Amino acid sequence: MEALSLSSVVKVLMTLKSELYDRLAAQLSSLLAGERDLIANAANFSSLIFHALPDLNWAGFYFAKDDELVLGPFQGQPACVRIRIGQGVCGAGAAKCETVIVPNVHEFPGHIACDSASNSEIVVPMMKGSKLIGVLDLDSPKTARFDAADAAGLEQLVSILLSSVSA
Ligand code: SME
Repeated sequence: MEALSLSSVVKVLMTLKSELYDRLAAQLSSLLAGERDLIANAANFSSLIFHALPDLNWAGFYFAKDDELVLGPFQGQPACVRIRIGQGVCGAGAAKCETVIVPNVHEFPGHIACDSASNSEIVVPMMKGSKLIGVLDLDSPKTARFDAADAAGLEQLVSILLSSVSA
């Protein structure tokens, strides 16, 4: 039997991950259907992904208020309440308005350690046009837990959340 190359194994894993996110997108759409409240939908969103995605120790939201991010609904250990735009991983994602993947948080300058169990992190900005609404933040105890398939999947989930609350 021919051995599988590393790149074909990676391809299979990426496909499995994107199938998981497709299923989550369908579940999220029905979970949020009929409700327009941002806090309520963000709360159910964080619970759904915290329980469905493997190897997470924190999943939740920070909302943009003035030049700060303020803690929103989440699952996991209690977290810092206010983060300046530009500060830490969340603040970097908010400042750039881009998804930020950090394979090892201990190597990220200015990382804010809310839970000492966290080793990697992904932050996805929530945008309404060019306006920053907040960020989705996921932490993992596993180093290099998040990749491009997570970024694409989570960006899709965030867009479902944003359309659920738009008029
Ligand atoms: N680690 C984040 C802070 C938020 S917690 O992870 C929940 C950061 O550096 O922005």
